[in-house]
Amino acid sequence: MTKRVAIFISGGGSNMVTLVRSMTGCHPARPVLVLSNDPDAGGLEKAAEMGIATAVVDHRPFMGDRASFEAALQAELDKVRPDLLCLAGFMRVLTEGFVARWEGRMLNIHPSLLPKYRGLHTHRRVLEAGDTEHGCTVHLVTPALDDGPILGQARVPVMAGDTPETLAGRVLEQEHRLYPAVLRRFAGGDRTPLYL
Ligand code: GRF
Repeated sequence: MTKRVAIFISGGGSNMVTLVRSMTGCHPARPVLVLSNDPDAGGLEKAAEMGIATAVVDHRPFMGDRASFEAALQAELDKVRPDLLCLAGFMRVLTEGFVARWEGRMLNIHPSLLPKYRGLHTHRRVLEAGDTEHGCTVHLVTPALDDGPILGQARVPVMAGDTPETLAGRVLEQEHRLYPAVLRRFAGGDRTPLYL
C-alpha cells in the first residue's frame, strides 16, 4: 500500500523539494500535503509549482496556545489522512500529546550529528568547539527535542576558514541526499539506520 506523506515546513523548503521529487515511480510513498506555520514560507510556492496541495496554519494568532495550534494542524492533516509526517525545516516544537499521536510515524531532519548539538545554531557551535567533523541526522520524533531513534546520518568535514554559512551549505547538500534515501527505506518498512 503506497504511503501518504505530509511535509511540514517553515522556510524555503529545499528539503521538502528533494523529498517530493524523490517520491515517483516505484517509490513506496507519495506526497499529499505541504503545510507551513509561516504564510510567507518560500517553500509553499515551490510545492504549489510541483502540484502538491498546500496549507498554512499560522501559529501567531494562537498566542502561545499550543493545544489549539496543534488542533488546527491536525484538522488539516485529517483532510488528507497521511500515514507519515516529515518535518523539514519546521521550526515549531510540538507538544508531547501531538508527538504521541504520531509516534513512530513522524521523521525530522536536524543539521548536526545527533546526539551532539541538539537545538539551534548547530554550525556555529561546531566551529566554536573546534570539531573536525559535522553533518546531519534524520530521526524519529519523540517528545524530547532532537532525541528520537536515528534513522540516518551523513558526515562532512569541517574545513579551515569555514564560517557557519559555508558549513551550513555543505551540510545542506548532504541533507538533500540523506532525507530522500531514509524516507524511501522507512516507507518501505526498513528502519535500519543508513550512514552516508
Ligand atoms: C535545514 O538545514 C534543516 O536541517 C533545518 O532547517 C533547514 C531547513 O532548510 N532544520 P530548508 O527549508 O529545507 O531549505
